[in-house]
Amino acid sequence: MDAETLKTEALSAIAAASSAGDLDEARVRYLGRKSELALALREVRDRETGMLLNGVRAALEGAVAERRAALERAELDRALTEESVDVTLPGEELALGHLHPTTHIRRIVEDAFLGLGYQIYDDREVEWVEDNFDKLAFPEWHPTRSPRDTFFLDERRLLRTETSPSQIHVMQEQEPPIYMVSIGRVYRRDEITPTRFPIFHQFEGLAVDRNITLADLKGTLLHVMRALFGPDRAVRFRTHFFPFTEPSIEPDVSCPICSGEGCRTCKFSGWIEMGGAGMVDPAVFENVGVDPAEWSGFAFGCGLERSAQLRYGIPEIRPFWESDLRVLTQF
Ligand code: PHE
Repeated sequence: MDAETLKTEALSAIAAASSAGDLDEARVRYLGRKSELALALREVRDRETGMLLNGVRAALEGAVAERRAALERAELDRALTEESVDVTLPGEELALGHLHPTTHIRRIVEDAFLGLGYQIYDDREVEWVEDNFDKLAFPEWHPTRSPRDTFFLDERRLLRTETSPSQIHVMQEQEPPIYMVSIGRVYRRDEITPTRFPIFHQFEGLAVDRNITLADLKGTLLHVMRALFGPDRAVRFRTHFFPFTEPSIEPDVSCPICSGEGCRTCKFSGWIEMGGAGMVDPAVFENVGVDPAEWSGFAFGCGLERSAQLRYGIPEIRPFWESDLRVLTQF
């Protein structure tokens, strides 16, 4: 084949290449080690033929480089138009998690007590019978000591039935003055109903200092109830009995739903029961080695779910434990 024919054929093959692969095929075919041109160059004996064939090779190499550049530009143009991103389109929404209503309430309670200078005391859920009952001065016959009411692990251990054993632990570990709040899960053998669940949360407060009175308890509870349910809440006390407080009371808060006017939630009384409280019984002080002649104190315990129900208007306790996002994402 003569050089000019070869050159024309090769140039048109290069020009016709419509992709990088095509182009490479043409390059190998006309310029590769086994191409007609390469073989002919190896056979060259005279200067004239050499210059002619080298001229053809240079022309073909130039054409390949040009065609490659053209193909790359075209590819870039295509990508820029076809793959362009409309930066004005709305972004993809990230599904953010959020806090459970019980956690919201827990944080409100923690904030309120931290503001009063209390320590947050993180405690165990598996308790000694001794600390859950004996040292809190529960009499032997008390019904809560029965396995019908309480989850026992063995003779000496149980799932705590209330956060009150934190009072025992903190008084055994620290010297008064003590101002602590302990928040966590408690367990009772109740059937699951709309308003009862065998696991729930309590917050337990304990203040031990000189000259603590029932008035200090009332002021403290008023502060916390206002943090939970707004500045207009009032608090009242009804007499009651707990083994570990004397006197014992049940605090009521003026109904956050109707502000005391009377509604279904407060059963038209204007008041809502908020747990238990009282002055630490001298017998409990003696059980933990605190001198009741020198120190006095108050304690209280309230439910977190109950507080959340009132704050957010959730009529039942069950949804707190069902992990149904349709419910939980509302709060
Ligand atoms: N532990 C009591 C209960 O669960 C509440 C309480 C706490 C009462 C502290 C008095 C003092 O019912």
